[in-house]
Amino acid sequence: MKIGIIVYSQSGHTAAFAREIAGQLGKAGLEYDIELVRPQGIPKPWTGKIQFRKIPDITEYDILLVGAPVWAFNISKVIVSLLYKLDSLKGKKVFPFVTHGLPVKPIAQRALRTLCNHIEACSGDAMEGEAQFYLLSTTNKEKMREAAQRIVQRIRQQITALNMG
Ligand SMILES: Cc1cc2nc3c(=O)[nH]c(=O)nc-3n(C[C@H](O)[C@H](O)[C@H](O)COP(=O)(O)O)c2cc1C
Repeated sequence: MKIGIIVYSQSGHTAAFAREIAGQLGKAGLEYDIELVRPQGIPKPWTGKIQFRKIPDITEYDILLVGAPVWAFNISKVIVSLLYKLDSLKGKKVFPFVTHGLPVKPIAQRALRTLCNHIEACSGDAMEGEAQFYLLSTTNKEKMREAAQRIVQRIRQQITALNMG
C-alpha cells in the first residue's frame, strides 16, 4: 500500500502541513512519497493556463493526499489544473488538505469541497480532508499536528477496509 502526497505550496505553509502529515504517516509505519507541484512561472489566482515543469506519476499509489492553499476565497487553481493532467484517479482514495490565511472556516471548507468535486470529476474517491489556518508563516503547531493525526487516522481506516475487502 503506497501513499502519495502531492502538494502545491507557494510560500511553504501547505508544504509544512504536508510534512506534518508525512511525519504522522511515518509514525504509523506507512510508506509515502511527497511530491511538490512545480508550475512554470509564478501563477496568480487569475492565471488561466497553468503549465507544469513535471507531472507527477501517480500510478503506484492506492491512496493520495492532495494539498494546496486557499486563493481568492477558494482552492488555488494550480492544484485543480494539475488534477486534470494526472493519470485517472479511478480506484484511488484521495484526501484533500488546504491551508488558509483568513480565519474564516466556511471559506476553507468551501475550498475543500471544491477540491473534492474536482477529485470526483477526475474519477477519484474523495475523502474527508483537513484545513489549517496559517497566517504569515505562523500557525498553531498543536492544531496542525491534530489535523494531521485526524487525516492519518482516516487513511488507516481506509487501509483496514481495503485489506478486508
Ligand atoms: C494570491 C493569494 C490569494 C489568497 N487568498 C486567500 C483567501 O481568499 N482566503 C484565505 O483564507 N487565504 C488566502 N490567501 C492566504 C493563503 O491561503 C495562505 O497564506 C496559505 O497558507 C498559503 O499557502 P502556501 O504557503 O502553501 O502557498 C491567499 C494567498 C495568496 C498568495
